[in-house]
Amino acid sequence: MANMIIKNANELVTCSGFKAKSGKEMDNIHIIENGAVVIEDGIIKKVGKTEEILKNVDQSKYEVIDATGKAVLPGFVDSHTHFVFGGYREKEFDMRLRGCSYMEIMEAGGGIANSTNGTLKASKEELIDLGKKRLDSMLKFGVTTVEGKSGYGLDFNTEIKQLEVMKELEKIHPMDISNTFLGAHAVPEDYKGRGEEFIDYIIEKVLPHVVENNLAEFCDIFCEKNVFSIEESRKLLNKAKEMGMKLKLHADEIVHLGGADLAAEVGAVSADHLLQASDEGIKKMAQAGVVATLLPATAFSLKEDYARGRFMIDNGCAVALATDFNPGSCHTESIPLLFALSTLYMNMTTKEAITSLTINGAAAIDRAHEIGSIDEGKKGDLVILEFPSYKFIPYHIGVNTVEKVIKGGKLVVNNENSGLVY
Ligand code: NIG
Ligand code: FE
Repeated sequence: MANMIIKNANELVTCSGFKAKSGKEMDNIHIIENGAVVIEDGIIKKVGKTEEILKNVDQSKYEVIDATGKAVLPGFVDSHTHFVFGGYREKEFDMRLRGCSYMEIMEAGGGIANSTNGTLKASKEELIDLGKKRLDSMLKFGVTTVEGKSGYGLDFNTEIKQLEVMKELEKIHPMDISNTFLGAHAVPEDYKGRGEEFIDYIIEKVLPHVVENNLAEFCDIFCEKNVFSIEESRKLLNKAKEMGMKLKLHADEIVHLGGADLAAEVGAVSADHLLQASDEGIKKMAQAGVVATLLPATAFSLKEDYARGRFMIDNGCAVALATDFNPGSCHTESIPLLFALSTLYMNMTTKEAITSLTINGAAAIDRAHEIGSIDEGKKGDLVILEFPSYKFIPYHIGVNTVEKVIKGGKLVVNNENSGLVY
C-alpha cells in the first residue's frame, strides 16, 4: 500500500531542503527529536514531532514502524558509480599492491580496456543478474537512489547495452537509477592516438541514439592526461548540452588539467574526483554552483591524497560524496567506508558527510527537488539506524549501522532479520 508511519524516532534527521547546500549550510542537518513521518502512496505527507503530527491520524490505515531509540535519516544517494560491468580486475589490484600504478596498468592495455572486454562478452541477462546483486548490496547500506554510468562499451552496441541494462534494472528493482552516458571513458584500441576522432564518432553515432531513446540523463567524460584533453572534453560536453543532456565530468583526478574550471565553464551539474583541482578551479565551481562530488574510497584504493573537501566547503562549494563503485580503481559500494574517510581523513564533520550523501548527492544528479531529504512532497525514502543518533554512523567505523531501509513508503531492507525483505 506504500502508506507508512514512522514514529517516536529519537532523532529524525531531515536534511531539509530542495537544492544543494553549500559552504556552512552543509553543517545543518535539521534534527527533530521524537520525530515522525507520514508517508502516503510513497510520498512524504507530514514531518514533525510525533505527538503533534499523529494527533488526528488514524494509524490503523498505515504500516507503522516504531523507531523508539533509533535515528531516522533520508535514504542515501550514491551519485557516482559504474556498477554495470562484466568481469573483475582482482589481478590488477594485486599488481597495484606490488607497486604498479593505475595509469601504468591502463597504458599497458589493462584497466578500463580489460572491463570493456568483460562487458562486451557478457550477455544482457548476465549484466542484469550482476547488476541486481550489486544494487541489493547498496540497498542494504541504505542507498535508495544510485547513479550508474556506461563506459565499459566504448562501441555503440556495448554502450547502449549497458544503458539498457540499467533501464531494465530500474523496472525490476526498488532502487531508483539515474543513467549517465560515459562513452568517452577511454580511447579504444582501434582509435589509439586518435582521441579526437573517437569524440567525433561518439558525437555523430552514439549520442543521437542515446538522446532519441532517452537512455541517459547525463553525459560524462574522463578528462585526464593521456585520456581525453580539455579541448576534447569541451567539444563533447557542449555538443551533449546542445542535444539536451545534463553534464558531469571526471575532473582533475590524477593530473591537474583544469577539469574543475571546465565544469564551471560548461555549467556541469557536478565535477567528480577533483583530487588535483586548483584553488582557482574550486572557487569557480563554487561560483557556478557545480556540485563537487568527492570519491574518497577511490583515493584510498589508489593510495592517492584525498580531495580537499574541507577547503572546498570553506570556499563555498556544495560537496557530495559517492562511492565510485567500479571494477578497477575502486571496487567498493561501502557507505560506511565513505563516512570513515570523509570524517577522519578529509576533516569533514559528520553532519557535512550526511549532507553530502543525502541532499547534495541528490543535487549531484539534479534530483534535490524529489529526494535527498525528509520533506513533505518528497519520495518516502528513509533509513532507520540501529542506534539512537546519527553520530553513531562514523563512530562505528566501517560497519553498517543501517537497520531498516524504506523505499517509497515500503520496507525493502530489514538488516535486523535476514536483510532484504522486498
Ligand atoms: O571513476 N577514472 C575513471 N573512471 C573510473 C575508473 C574506471 C575503472 O578503472 O574501471 C573512476 O575511477
Ligand atoms: Fe568514476
